[in-house]
Order: sequence, then structure tokens, then C-alpha cells
Amino acid sequence: MIMTTTNLNQRSLLGLKGMSASELTSILDRAAYWDAHTEKQVSVLQGKFVANMFFENSTRTRVSFEMAQKRLGAEVLNFTSAASSVEKGESIYDTVRTLESMGIDAGVIRLKPAGVLQQLAEKVSVPLINAGDGNNEHPTQALLDLYTMKRHFGDMKGLRVAIVGDILHSRVARSNFWALTAMGANVSFCAPDNMKATDIPDMKYISMEEALQADVIMMLRVQLERHASGMIQSAEDYRLHYGLTEDRATKLKPHAIIMHPAPVNRNVEIDDALVESPKSKIFTQMQNGVPIRMAVIERALRN
Ligand code: CP
Repeated sequence: MIMTTTNLNQRSLLGLKGMSASELTSILDRAAYWDAHTEKQVSVLQGKFVANMFFENSTRTRVSFEMAQKRLGAEVLNFTSAASSVEKGESIYDTVRTLESMGIDAGVIRLKPAGVLQQLAEKVSVPLINAGDGNNEHPTQALLDLYTMKRHFGDMKGLRVAIVGDILHSRVARSNFWALTAMGANVSFCAPDNMKATDIPDMKYISMEEALQADVIMMLRVQLERHASGMIQSAEDYRLHYGLTEDRATKLKPHAIIMHPAPVNRNVEIDDALVESPKSKIFTQMQNGVPIRMAVIERALRN
């Protein structure tokens, strides 16, 4: 098949901004299909080679992509920049072109800088799946978050979702905002002034008290590695003002759920006792990452 730019774009997944509700729903439905599939491994992608290219650390995303690829019967190549020629100064573009020239059929890629992935995708001829690029987007995380909400509530239309914490540095917040808004949810943000972002039009900021009234409270990790010094006074101070403490959790609606993309800073943005509490969907989110990534990989490699 000759790969045109249009069908390559349809198979790549660079972000959720601009994706329609029907396309989001088709990915969620396909994930539900794989979720219900009892066979642990199928041969749908037999003979296809997928490279996982992580230029930034990851546990959940990297492992669940590999799990998804292997469940679909694909051949998996794992590339980590720390053990590669990137350490000798090779660029991201040259690295991706190298793997492409060796015959990969698709690439999953995580990058530290935002704004590079689009240019990269325009220069290569294999579909690319964004596994998180800087503070721009983390589309498969948001898809698994939507899938978790859909499974719990049935529908996202009118669902009140409060995303709390380090919005400025969060690709998870951005991807969730685009996708949840497309699905008709009511998304608000809660953050200290120095962690607010201004790049999303119509962003609505609410207080912590208001966030506790939501149907879904999504806590974000304080991304200390991306902070300029002094963004938070101390972990305890942050917890006091913006943490989901056990005391605050008593004010949540009876039907509300707690989400967090993880990794979690226990006792900073969320109290230790809440991480595995009955309202928490944190480990369910991780579980849902596998069928979501099966659906996304299959979409990238379909004929
Ligand atoms: N949620 C998430 O992206 O986790 P990892 O950084 O471990 O992949």
C-alpha cells in the first residue's frame, strides 16, 4: 500500500486535540472489545514490527504498550535512550529514521520536548503514537482515563471532572481536556497560581472546595523534575493547600471517583490511605491502559 500523508495521519496518534467524539468512541469501543477478549494472545499483528522509543523514563506507558503489542502478536523492539547512541549525541530524528530504515512498521515515542513530534511525524513514513511529549499531550493516558470513566458512569456527557494540581506541566491535563470536552463532559481545573496554564482557551479554574463537588476528581503528580526551583514551598505545604487529604475526601460526593495518572507522590498530592481506597480508580486506570493501547496499536497497523 502506498502511504499518503492523509492515511498516515489517520493512523498516527499525535494528540487528541481536534479528535471527534465519534473517533474517540470508536477507539473506546475497540478497547472494550479487547478488554472482553478472553484469549491472552492473538495473531492479529503477526509479522508486524513495532518499536517503543522512550527518550524519557516511563513504567506504565512503556510496559502496557509492550503488553498490548505482545497480546496482539506483534514483534516488539524496545529502545531506551540511556542505552543508545543518543548518549553519543545522535538526534531524535536520526534515531527514528534509523529504526525506520531497518523496517519497523510503527513507532511508539515518548519525548521530553513539546512541539517536536509533529515535525518528526511529517518526516517519517511509519505511523507514530505519542506516548507523552513534554507538557503537550499524552493521548493514550487520556483515552484510558475516558475508558475508566465510561465504564464507571456509562456516559461522559455532563460529567463534572475536576483536574487538580500541576496543570502547567501536565500533558495528561491537556489531553483529558480536549477529549473530555469533545465527549460533552464539563472539565474544570484547580491549581496554585504558579501552576496554572494559559494555553487552553475556555479553561475554567475553581477552588479546591469546588473541586470536591465533582463526579471525578483527577489528582496530578507534582512534577518536581520539571519545576524551576521554588515552585512549591514544601511537600507538606502543597498537601495542605492542594492535596487530596483523608479529611478532604470525606467531602466527596458518595458516587464520586478518584483518579490519578501515576506515578503518585503519596502524601503530597494524595494521601497514602486514599490511593487504594474504594473510591480510587488508580490501579483500574493502569489495567485499562492495556486494552486502550491494543486498540491504538491496531488502528496504527490496520491495512
Ligand atoms: N502515567 C504515566 O504516563 O506513567 P509513566 O510515566 O510511568 O509511563
